Amino acid sequence: MRKHIVAGNWKMNCTFTEADELVNGIMEQLEEKELPRETQLIVCPPLPYLEMTTDYANDSYFLVGAQNVSDQERGAYTGEVSAEMLESMEIDYCIVGHSERRQYYGETDAIVAAKVDRLLAHGLKPIVCVGEVLEEREAGRQLEVVKRQVEQGLFHLTAEQMQEVVIAYEPVWAIGTGRTATPEQAQEIHAHIRSLLAAKYGQALADEVSILYGGSCKPSNAKELFACADIDGGLIGGASLKAEDFVAIAMSF
Ligand code: PGA
Repeated sequence: MRKHIVAGNWKMNCTFTEADELVNGIMEQLEEKELPRETQLIVCPPLPYLEMTTDYANDSYFLVGAQNVSDQERGAYTGEVSAEMLESMEIDYCIVGHSERRQYYGETDAIVAAKVDRLLAHGLKPIVCVGEVLEEREAGRQLEVVKRQVEQGLFHLTAEQMQEVVIAYEPVWAIGTGRTATPEQAQEIHAHIRSLLAAKYGQALADEVSILYGGSCKPSNAKELFACADIDGGLIGGASLKAEDFVAIAMSF
């Protein structure tokens, strides 16, 4: 059975002290509530807090992810952070192709593909984000857009590599807007992504890939989203900044 995953994407939020409090809050919540064993919790803090977060993670029940990685291997790329560095810090996951990176930092499908390669080469699991913008949905192009992103970002991988990948469907119009996709809208795209994977890699592999939903997911709507057949968890932005909400979402399976 594929894994249930709830990943918190803190984005560019929190001072060091706030980050420390948030991680401690998550640990307290996890001590109070018993998270189902098949649910994997992942915390993705800003890069400067990765070490602090992994130190805590070692004593608790969550894994740590980065929010971004360089598409280059090593060398003169000022300000960049490589997959090799993340590997050396024992980071498990890394978000790639988030719509904010695509929108504000020119991250193309080709760059996403290169980042995925770097991560896999260093033993990290990429959480690859796909999703249409509002105009694309209004034009009825959501299936086509997501297909392009999945094909160009991932379909150069071998079946073995594909097994290490997590996909997150995040309709851009639902991110940080309070406007969540309905379970029907989300399920349609998740099933579409799984059918693309099945056509390329076979049904058995497609059934093993966790596909997360992201976009204004919160404790009040997580249950109905996670109840959908092809939704295997969530990539949580705003609500991951509150320990109680984040863990409540993870308890929503
Ligand atoms: P949100 O963000 O939960 O604040 O909508 C989700 C994301 O961007 O990963």
